[in-house]
Amino acid sequence: MVKKIDADSWKHFAASRRTTRDFLDKPVPQSLIDELLEDAMTAPSWSNTRPYLVGIASGEKRDRISAELLSRWEAAGRALRGGWWGRVKLLFTRYGLPQSDYRVFRPYPKELVPRQQRVGAELYGLLSIKRDDHVARQAQWARNYEFFGAPVALFIFTHKGLGEYSVSDAGLFMQNLMLGAHARGLGTCAQGAVALWAPPIRKEFNVPKGYKLLCGIALGYPSDHKVNGFQAERLPIAEIKLRDV
Ligand SMILES: Cc1cc2nc3c(=O)[nH]c(=O)nc-3n(C[C@H](O)[C@H](O)[C@H](O)COP(=O)(O)O)c2cc1C
Repeated sequence: MVKKIDADSWKHFAASRRTTRDFLDKPVPQSLIDELLEDAMTAPSWSNTRPYLVGIASGEKRDRISAELLSRWEAAGRALRGGWWGRVKLLFTRYGLPQSDYRVFRPYPKELVPRQQRVGAELYGLLSIKRDDHVARQAQWARNYEFFGAPVALFIFTHKGLGEYSVSDAGLFMQNLMLGAHARGLGTCAQGAVALWAPPIRKEFNVPKGYKLLCGIALGYPSDHKVNGFQAERLPIAEIKLRDV
C-alpha cells in the first residue's frame, strides 16, 4: 500500500511552485538531474510510448548554446532597429531569423490576449520596466538566452509522428520534472523562447530523425532576486469550466 501525502500538503506544494527567473551560480550534480528525469518518467504517456527526448546541457555545452542564442537574438534586434535596410540584411544573411521546429511566436487568440497582457504587465511592473522601454524589455527577454543564470539547460524534443499527443506527453513529463525539482529545492523555468532557433541546439546533440524541438527548461537553485517572488495570477476554475448547453 502506497502511503499517500495528505491533500493539504499536496495543494500547498503544487501551488508553491513558481517559475524561477534568476538562478544561483551553483552546479546541479548529474545524479540529481537523473533523479528528476526518473521522477518525470512516471508521468502518464500515450500507449506508454514516451515520444520525447531530452538534451542536457551544462558547463561548456550550456555556455556555447547560450552564446549562440544570444548572438542570434542580438542580430535580430539590430536588424529590426536598422529599419528597412536592417530587415533586408536579415533576409539575406538569415542570421537571427527564427529557425524553429514548431511555430514559437504567433498572435494570441483574442480571448486569451487579456491574460497574456496581464502576466506581462505584472512581471515587468515588478521589475520596474515601463511599457515603452523597449531596451529594458529586450534586455529582460534576452535573459532567456542566458537561461536566467541557470547552470543547466534541458531541451525537450518530441516525436512528430504522434502529433499533439507527443506534445501533451512532453507537457506531463515536464510538469513531473518541475515538481520533482521543486521538491528538492531547485527552481525551473519552462522556456519556449529558446525553441526559436533549433539549429544551435540540435548541433550539440544527436537528435534522431523525426524529433522536433519543443522548448527548454532552465534548471538550478533559485536566487533571492525579487523576480523569483513574482506570483502570476492563478485563474479561478470558473474561467475554465465549460457551461452546459
Ligand atoms: C511551454 C511553456 C513555455 C514557457 N516559456 C517561457 C519563456 O520562454 N520565458 C519565460 O520567462 N517564461 C516562460 N514560461 C513560464 C510561464 O510564463 C509561467 O509558467 C506562467 O506565467 C505561470 O507562472 P508560474 O509558472 O510561476 O505559475 C513558459 C511556460 C510554459 C508552460
